[in-house]
Amino acid sequence: MKAVVVTGFGTRPKLVDLPTPEPGAGEILVRIHAAGVNPFDWKVTDGALKDSVTHTFPLVMGSDAAGVVERTGPGVTRFHPGDRVYGQFMRLPQGQGSYAEYTVTEQDGKIALIPEALPFTLAAALPTASVTAYQAVQAARLAAGHTLLINGASGGVGQSAIQFAAGFGARVLATGTSEVADHLRDLGADTVIDFTRAPAHEQVAAAHPDGIDAVIDLVTPTGGDISPMAGLLRAGATLVSTNYATDPDALAALGILGVNLGNRPNVETLTTLAELAAIGELRVRIDAEVPLADAPALIDKARAGHATGKSVIVP
Ligand SMILES: NC(=O)c1ccc[n+]([C@@H]2O[C@H](COP(=O)([O-])OP(=O)(O)OC[C@H]3O[C@@H](n4cnc5c(N)ncnc54)[C@H](OP(=O)(O)O)[C@@H]3O)[C@@H](O)[C@H]2O)c1
Repeated sequence: MKAVVVTGFGTRPKLVDLPTPEPGAGEILVRIHAAGVNPFDWKVTDGALKDSVTHTFPLVMGSDAAGVVERTGPGVTRFHPGDRVYGQFMRLPQGQGSYAEYTVTEQDGKIALIPEALPFTLAAALPTASVTAYQAVQAARLAAGHTLLINGASGGVGQSAIQFAAGFGARVLATGTSEVADHLRDLGADTVIDFTRAPAHEQVAAAHPDGIDAVIDLVTPTGGDISPMAGLLRAGATLVSTNYATDPDALAALGILGVNLGNRPNVETLTTLAELAAIGELRVRIDAEVPLADAPALIDKARAGHATGKSVIVP
């Protein structure tokens, strides 16, 4: 099968031929129809998890995908050949991922069935970004009338988070440039803050001097200074970081709940998101759809930033 692999941490992704994996006990072989691209994919191959997880090289890149179950191993009860499925497929110890024609995974809680009405490309764009958005909005403890800032709202996680937060009846402040402002408002943002004109926190502080109820921060890196975001919050508010940039103990002293969120897909959430996307109630903009051979160039482009939606690889 064709697959995009790296041969070591920090090496350049390349398209290669690999043996098609065989499903073992409790495993399924999936023919991938579309693989979604996330910043996590190259953070991992750069070595983000090298001290905590065993990696096998050559390592097939990627996590998210949608496809069809080709074969099942002994003891598989949840899935059957022909089932349309999606979810997260990254298995670093086995060297397996989603940027490939086939992948093998356990029949576990990171994979769910998708409705007939949901195209594979759209399903592949959902797992990491939309599960993270869904769980970040839940963690933000929103109620109708609350004001929430989503910092980094123009990318994959942010666009879904706008929709979920608006669904809670929150007033959503979303960062984004003028190019994406209309789109973010269309998704449910009340106010779009152009962070290229002045720092987002200064604009929000000027408009909300009494503080806001929550921030979902998708921008501040691990070890970065998140205090400008924390400074926007009133006592009792919540600060959620997807890059482990909050110090929950320091925030607790200010009466703020700090949450470092790592997405945890489960069948119930994946099924809910797939159903919402199938009926158009969760909208995901696809920026780019490219064949496997173009994945290395797509990764270079994605690393440079300026996402205005999701990118998908179609093997
Ligand atoms: N912990 C988890 O489970 C988890 C899960 C998913 C994602 N994440 C992390 O969450 C972050 C967002 O993920 P994503 O998939 O949404 O990434 P993405 O699709 O690449 O989007 C990031 C967005 O942030 C914008 N941005 C960059 N700098 C900004 C700034 N200073 N102010 C405002 N916006 C800015 C980018 O626009 P410009 O480039 O045009 O500025 C881009 O639209 C990434 O760091 C990712 O690794 C964590």
